[in-house]
Amino acid sequence: MEVAVGARMAASILTLLFLASWCLMSASGFRQRGMEREEEEEAHGGGRRLRGRFLLARATTVARTDAGEIRVASRYPSKSEPCPMHIGFIQMEPNSLVVPQYIDANLVLFVHTGEVKVGWIHKDELVERKMRRGDVNVIPAGSTFYIVNTHRGDRSQMICSIDTTQSMGVSLHQSFFVGGGMNPTSVLAGFDSNTLAAAFNVTAEELERMMRSQSGGAIVYMRGESTERPDIDDDNDDGAWTKQKLVDYLLGKVDRKKAGNGEHVGALHSYNLYDNEPSYRNSFGWTTAIDEDDYSPLRSTGVGVYVVNLTAGSMLAPHMNPMATEYGVVLRGSGTIQVVFPNGSNAMNAEVSEGDAFWIPQYFPFCQIASSGAPMEFFGFTTSSRRNHPQFLVGASSVLRSMRGPELAAAFRVSEERLERLVKAQRESVILPVRHHQLPEEEDEAEEELSKLKRGVFA
Ligand SMILES: *[C@@H]1O[C@H](CO)[C@@H](O)[C@H](O)[C@H]1NC(C)=O
Ligand SMILES: *[C@@H]1O[C@H](CO)[C@@H](O)[C@H](O)[C@H]1NC(C)=O
Ligand SMILES: *[C@@H]1O[C@H](CO)[C@@H](O)[C@H](O)[C@H]1NC(C)=O
Repeated sequence: MEVAVGARMAASILTLLFLASWCLMSASGFRQRGMEREEEEEAHGGGRRLRGRFLLARATTVARTDAGEIRVASRYPSKSEPCPMHIGFIQMEPNSLVVPQYIDANLVLFVHTGEVKVGWIHKDELVERKMRRGDVNVIPAGSTFYIVNTHRGDRSQMICSIDTTQSMGVSLHQSFFVGGGMNPTSVLAGFDSNTLAAAFNVTAEELERMMRSQSGGAIVYMRGESTERPDIDDDNDDGAWTKQKLVDYLLGKVDRKKAGNGEHVGALHSYNLYDNEPSYRNSFGWTTAIDEDDYSPLRSTGVGVYVVNLTAGSMLAPHMNPMATEYGVVLRGSGTIQVVFPNGSNAMNAEVSEGDAFWIPQYFPFCQIASSGAPMEFFGFTTSSRRNHPQFLVGASSVLRSMRGPELAAAFRVSEERLERLVKAQRESVILPVRHHQLPEEEDEAEEELSKLKRGVFA
């Protein structure tokens, strides 16, 4: 009997679910969008470069049950450049649980809709944090965690960066389920059953009963009890959480009401992107970027987080990131993203809408433009937790504006006056209105400015 259990466990360990495989080919999006897009692309002959080379591949479903779904979007594979970051989309039905597991990648979690509770092991203690819309938190690689959708009625959607630079292999990042049974298979199942029974100090029968109960997959419904436990209390201190206690906890052997959080983990709060004053705001939109100085948990992950909200018809001025590659997901609205190659040719001019994910290589100039009908909000991650110092090429706080003078005029082979007029015409910085050009008027305006210049008005 024990031998049979061992064999079954050994076989089922092989079915360990991979969180995602690396750089899969296909287009991105929240589920619905992705499907439409696929049809669209098929209708156009299915060219994978059809929509733009800096859009992420369609998210691949890595886990799906009736309680939720996890999808991962990656860059198209490239031999020259590995892709260290993937974007995960986690969707959970009310009262569902992402089964406790650890993965070989850092996760930076962001709640897009709904409300969840995330529990993870920090310095041998269980930390539980409620997260709501706009909250960001970090789960380090190798830390066992679970996620519960605590909302009674609403589905919740999370977006996370999956940073695989710490992964075991080049090509995969992997889930190791701690909780589970038949499906997902707990890593505990891979041990010899006698050894495990001895380790637990329980009978093999008792152990088998536990190891064979779960077959619901990586996301299951919580049973019975209310998920709203009022005792998720940051100040509640119940001493250290050892690994044995974790196992007991997962087995339900510990009074979960006493599952306290130690005092020194009280600092692991989420950072809400919407509650704080934006990093930059003008009448055309706002943007917030957080780095390790704003939110210290980001330091260990080397990931930065940002969100941008453009009013209808506004653009984030042409700029580039000298410190990091940027990943983004359109949260609301639609618009266009333009990216430029180093040689000055256009690399992408793609229309994007809700659910689309994109990436922008370090140094590559780009801009995002909201469509004229509605605001566009996008959110994302950068591959550096340091202050990013984006360099704007156009606008009142741009490189061109700072550098204007005889050198730049000579470089463009125009007069200094002409250059001056050109780089000073835009009075706004960072987020700019997009106006629709009416050529004749513009010429008049230009003439007028030029004559003013000649009269020394701007001297
Ligand atoms: C194993 O369980 C028995 C019975 O509950 C107990 O008496 C014994 O102390 C336990 N052994 C260990 C090492 O915990
Ligand atoms: C983004 O801006 C629009 C107005 O342009 C506003 O209605 C919306 O609430 C903003 N979104 C957030 C998350 O602040
Ligand atoms: C510019 O560089 C890109 C990418 O290397 C290349 O595909 C394109 O043909 C180049 N364009 C010109 C005009 O050289």
